[in-house]
Amino acid sequence: MTTIAKIALGKNGPMVSKLGLGCMRMSSVWGNPANDETESIATIQMALDNGINFLNTGDFYGSGHNELLVGKAIKNRRNDAFISVKFGGIVYNGQFIGLDLRPIAIKNFINYSLVRLGIDTIDLYQPCRLDNSVPLEDVIGTVADLIKEGKVRYLGVSEITAEQLRKAHSIHPVTALEIGYSLADRQIESNLLPTAEELGIGVVAFANTAEGLLTGEMKAPLPANSYHNHFSRFQGENLVKNLEKVEVLKKMAKEKGYSPTQLAIAWVNAQGEHIMPLVSMSRRSRLPENMSAMEIVFTPEEMNTLNTHFSPGAILGGTYLHR
Ligand SMILES: NC(=O)c1ccc[n+]([C@@H]2O[C@H](COP(=O)([O-])OP(=O)(O)OC[C@H]3O[C@@H](n4cnc5c(N)ncnc54)[C@H](OP(=O)(O)O)[C@@H]3O)[C@@H](O)[C@H]2O)c1
Repeated sequence: MTTIAKIALGKNGPMVSKLGLGCMRMSSVWGNPANDETESIATIQMALDNGINFLNTGDFYGSGHNELLVGKAIKNRRNDAFISVKFGGIVYNGQFIGLDLRPIAIKNFINYSLVRLGIDTIDLYQPCRLDNSVPLEDVIGTVADLIKEGKVRYLGVSEITAEQLRKAHSIHPVTALEIGYSLADRQIESNLLPTAEELGIGVVAFANTAEGLLTGEMKAPLPANSYHNHFSRFQGENLVKNLEKVEVLKKMAKEKGYSPTQLAIAWVNAQGEHIMPLVSMSRRSRLPENMSAMEIVFTPEEMNTLNTHFSPGAILGGTYLHR
């Protein structure tokens, strides 16, 4: 299988795989059933065997189920894995109902996470979102204290603005920014990405397939029970027009001998040395396909075609990534 390169996460940061494994969809998070646990654990272990050491979870993914799963997968091989955990999200019965970023809450969350994961230190710890309920100094300051205590190695942030990123970094060095980024969601290119680059912060880019839009497998209209129906991107005429755009990706994929998903991952991968595609995979069969996406090289003409057809704003409607 393809060898996955290692990159420094941020300036002088830890060495991690250029491709990350997102574990969220292994658990029941947004009302979906959990994936087969044995297969999920085997997927994590196969990823580790193949040099993918960056594992992404969150304490609210399946109310702790996801961390327990990751904990089982890395038992006896802690050193093979780099564990990234998000905290602060309050999810109840499959609905995101708010944030709790109070220092006492964070101190509570971390100990539960460490027990569930079965480890002494979390490699990258990050608030999943920010709001104005707690001063940023307190949120970041609490993680900085956990770093001093040895419970955390590096600070990360997720889904924040360029201004918040700059401020967080001034309180304590930020190692990585976790952010939704794909051919369909390029708004961060104007401000946030240049800020991360300027500050030497690594970018962990998730939702490369834009909730499946870029897999080329979606057909309009979607089944009535699909969670996608909540998002304007997947409704009525928007979906029809967006799927027309995806035809360009499908055509190029066919010509190059790859799948549209592979091209979607490859495009994110090509955006910079400091940008890591973070891809959900819940079964071992996904790994060879997505790993070989990391080998894809675009000609300047191909890159130009993709960038033109998927210029920022070309995909109509939004998802939960409100910016
Ligand atoms: N910070 C945040 O706010 C935030 C938000 C969302 C997610 N995340 C993290 O980022 C990770 C990735 O995000 P995501 O799940 O939204 O996006 P994604 O990686 O684009 O995954 C979406 C779906 O694509 C499927 N897929 C993977 N490889 C495929 C292939 N080769 N062909 C067809 N379909 C394929 C996966 O299916 P299977 O699961 O069936 O393999 C998954 O259900 C998550 O696991 C999570 O760790 C972070």
